[in-house]
Amino acid sequence: LELPPFSIPLSIPPVLKPTRRTGDTDFYDMRIAESWHEILPGVRTRTLTFNGGFPGPTVHARRGRAVVVRQFNGMGSPATVHLHGANVPASSDGHPMDPIAPGQSRVYRYPNDQPAATLWYHDHTHHLEGEQVYRGLSGAYLLSDPVDARLPLPGGEFDVLLMFRDAKLDGEGQLVFVPDDFMNRPTILVNGRPQPYFEVKRRLYRLRLINVSNLEVFKFRLSNGARFLQIASDGGFLREPAVRQEIDLWPAERAEVLVDFRSVPAGTSVELQNVVALSENKRDIIQFRVGGGGPGDKPELTIPGRPLVQTEIPGWPSRNPAPERVSKTRRFILRIDPVTGEFLINDRGFDPNRVDATIQHGSTEIWELVNGDGAFGIPHTMHLHLVQFRVLDRNGKPEPGHDTYPKDTVRLNPGDVVRIQATFDTQIGRYPFHCHFLDHAMHSMMGQFEVVPRR
Ligand code: C2O
Ligand code: CU
Repeated sequence: LELPPFSIPLSIPPVLKPTRRTGDTDFYDMRIAESWHEILPGVRTRTLTFNGGFPGPTVHARRGRAVVVRQFNGMGSPATVHLHGANVPASSDGHPMDPIAPGQSRVYRYPNDQPAATLWYHDHTHHLEGEQVYRGLSGAYLLSDPVDARLPLPGGEFDVLLMFRDAKLDGEGQLVFVPDDFMNRPTILVNGRPQPYFEVKRRLYRLRLINVSNLEVFKFRLSNGARFLQIASDGGFLREPAVRQEIDLWPAERAEVLVDFRSVPAGTSVELQNVVALSENKRDIIQFRVGGGGPGDKPELTIPGRPLVQTEIPGWPSRNPAPERVSKTRRFILRIDPVTGEFLINDRGFDPNRVDATIQHGSTEIWELVNGDGAFGIPHTMHLHLVQFRVLDRNGKPEPGHDTYPKDTVRLNPGDVVRIQATFDTQIGRYPFHCHFLDHAMHSMMGQFEVVPRR
């Protein structure tokens, strides 16, 4: 079942069609069910899917128009659907303890009241999310807004979704799930296929990168040494686009980058590589085969240099108050108990009946996140539902540029102390926060915060 690299074309998940549209809402139906997918040509791999897709279909949403999704659970196990990165009412958040029973359906309502962003949806059933997401339960949700639409960014076929994930296939081409076994997931899939190639024109491309892996971390680089212009992070556009040689992308993180193929000779190729891959076969992720220029091949933006978008991107996060308005500072330590091997936050595993942080609606907090596993431990991440936050510093030092990125998931290397700041001024209710190495979350590395009405 070994394939030579770059022998399968990239496939792009289909865009889901609404079943009905009203003046302010788009309605969708999805069916969660076992299915199969050709990860390798001619081999049927059993999968869990949204609407049969691996990954699931892409939802296109527009700011200010609600999306209502009816999810039918056709699996034999419970399912929960979480829209990662979205500001949604708690009842539609896909809380791990609020599952759809087998044979039942559930309506999720998404207000789309936030800036344009590349979001994604995935299963979140407590203790099952690790395996169910691994077997296929994830998909992209692309939220646009009037700002996005006005920017001179590449669109249509030049706006490309790339979802990356780790996998292990057995001799029959079936997915093998062994929790925590990150050394033993030798295959990286892009949109459900190993090491695909993608034919590009000599144009500027917008690539939407989503890491939907359970455990894999990426540091992307282009094989020709060309740079990326990063325009967006987890929660949407950066205040100023940033020229980058490398893009870090840990589980659940997103980055939108512009890549310029105009100066690449036709007939040659450029590979997207993971420079921190643990094995050689996981280094080359996707091959871009550069063809001729298309009509209308005129420079829209310049890399590097001052991109046109700079002046038009709204000043995120201007609404974040100055530090003196911060009403509370909390500290959360992520750590594996050396004796029991349990995955813990502040020495406790997830308990649905416990609230770890009660937050007054409207307040701004600083959370100090600690990877307590020490210098020889393993990495963790922290993801908060509901909010986009700002990374203030890492080990006391600002990360250049990063403090203005809208983030919902942050990397915690062994020993790291990262301070984030978030404002909880949208919904009321109970939401989880957890490590987004999903194998760790399924081992209970998760807590809850509750936003309560201001007294
Ligand atoms: Cu990506 Cu709690 O989720
Ligand atoms: Cu972790």
